[in-house]
Amino acid sequence: MNTPTNTSTSHSKPKILVARAIFPEALAKLEESYEVHSNQSDKILTPEELQKALSGVEGALVAGSERIDAAALAQAKNLKVVANISVGYNNFDVPAITAAGVMATNTPDVLTDTTADFGFALLMATARRITESEHWVRAGKWDQWSIVNNPLGMDLHHSTVGIIGMGRIGQGIAKRALGFGMKVIYHNRSHLSDADEKACGATYVSKEELLRTADHVVLVLPYTAQNHHTIGAAEIAMMKPTATLINIARGGIVDDAALAHALQSGKIFAAGLDVFEGEPQVHPELLKCSNIVLAPHIASATEKTRRAMVDLAVENLRAALDGKKPPSLINGEVLEGKKQA
Ligand code: 8YV
Repeated sequence: MNTPTNTSTSHSKPKILVARAIFPEALAKLEESYEVHSNQSDKILTPEELQKALSGVEGALVAGSERIDAAALAQAKNLKVVANISVGYNNFDVPAITAAGVMATNTPDVLTDTTADFGFALLMATARRITESEHWVRAGKWDQWSIVNNPLGMDLHHSTVGIIGMGRIGQGIAKRALGFGMKVIYHNRSHLSDADEKACGATYVSKEELLRTADHVVLVLPYTAQNHHTIGAAEIAMMKPTATLINIARGGIVDDAALAHALQSGKIFAAGLDVFEGEPQVHPELLKCSNIVLAPHIASATEKTRRAMVDLAVENLRAALDGKKPPSLINGEVLEGKKQA
């Protein structure tokens, strides 16, 4: 059984859970104020272990690996806050957390530029076949320079990028695309303000128009039940055979089996994926494709940004335990409920 260890000494401090390994300095700082039950082994807690670990604590730092729902909260009678070290919070059943009177927080803003940088890097690597070329060189297949018989890619400059999901990160990718002289089209639940559209040089189009006209489709939308398989066989069929598809959003937004089939049968040119259905498992058919760039969910993974994410999650947790409003509170209704009680 993977049991978080009590790494602090005092027993009069509020108890908190740190469900995943964090930077040692951040942990040491937490131990000054809290009795910390920490899972520095980083072995993901089973649902039963998580339920038990939450049962005696007032606050918890968690990540996408921890599903926080009614079952996880069943014995969490003292819990006031679950602070996600992640901007996406599809691991949270927000209505269940709110019903339990617990504050839920995430880490917006601090990872926007790092994640947009990575989205652009993945786009470039995919369009220009960088990882495939590297494998080719390492395999000793590069015997001569050739005009036609070397990996030929697709241009980014002056092409059209279609961004689905135009929140902070989508807008960050759009701004980067402008530097490459790209035309930016987007599809989103709602239109951006005129000022934001202008800042990104972006034009709103329907999802269908985006899929039919974009040279590069980038997915940056949150995962919800409605967004499940936003891109499946029918959507891929609308895309140009020369197009690339980039997913830095969440596994489940793309039907990975349909994508593998499309890549294998040349329905689209290539794909770049940072997230997968059922990750860290990767669909075996995707692994067989050469026209794909695979990354292990690292879009926010620079040391500076991961530290900023942990710091913001800690700030959220501290605020909640000090009776203040956390800076990135997701379910403000919890505080409304407390005011009325
Ligand atoms: C996290 C992410 O690293 O913030 C997000 O939504 O996808 C990543 O930055 C990951 O989700 C950890 O839980």
